[in-house]
Amino acid sequence: MSWTTPEDHPDPTLARRFGARLRGRWGRPLYALRSTPSTQTVLHRLAADGAPEGTVVVADHQTRGRGRYGRSWVASPGKALLASILLRPARSPPRLGEIGLAAAVAAADALETTAGVAVRIKWPNDLLVGSKKVAGILAEAALEGAGGGYVALGVGINVSQGPEEFSSELRGRATSLALAGGRPVGREALLAALLAELEARYRTLSTEGFPPIREAWLARAVLGQRVVYGGGEGVAVDLAPDGGLIVRNGDGRLTTIVSGEVG
Ligand code: BTN
Repeated sequence: MSWTTPEDHPDPTLARRFGARLRGRWGRPLYALRSTPSTQTVLHRLAADGAPEGTVVVADHQTRGRGRYGRSWVASPGKALLASILLRPARSPPRLGEIGLAAAVAAADALETTAGVAVRIKWPNDLLVGSKKVAGILAEAALEGAGGGYVALGVGINVSQGPEEFSSELRGRATSLALAGGRPVGREALLAALLAELEARYRTLSTEGFPPIREAWLARAVLGQRVVYGGGEGVAVDLAPDGGLIVRNGDGRLTTIVSGEVG
């Protein structure tokens, strides 16, 4: 099976540029595209064909980038790090929520060490600088495939967009590392740092379980905002031992939610 469709445009030069900076095991193999509908779609195709853990797909541009809750993820060509990483957790079904939270901690560390910005995490895995979103994470699981079950972890990081590159609707809520006053950082160095941090946090999750990830997540958490969820609304107060969000309702009752919109 080919890993591309006519809508995918592989770019060997881009692959060499990204590949040259990698230090760990992850990112081998690495596939790079000038343009694709979504790096997630390409990674799912590779995974179904038996690609190994640590396979990475990056792109300069996505025509149908996906966000959480079926939303789209839009970024100007060449200005964002758009990456999908293949994980093959031993546990089946994988604990997708815990993996997403571990990835948020890893990405926050990578942004801070490379760009020098202070990053906080909004449940479950939105990365904020101040009150604006600079990066998002999408974890998609599949239970079957040539190599068994897997998780496609998609990470989108706004790197060098200017204000005019965000729609008027997004401008108040989204930012880039450049706009947030970060040190100039290339997407290649950012991917290398992200993969190194991810590999380490994912290993911790596999060997020690969720508690150390929960601690690291809480150290960066934004809590206290309004949360709207299926059963009502309340205020985010804590992270549950299973990665759910503990919400205090208007009547003081605590509820743990697994999905919902944090304000
Ligand atoms: C979110 O915050 O809603 C998650 C956004 C995830 C976006 C990334 S960009 C690379 C990868 N490919 C996609 O289509 N989506 C993820």
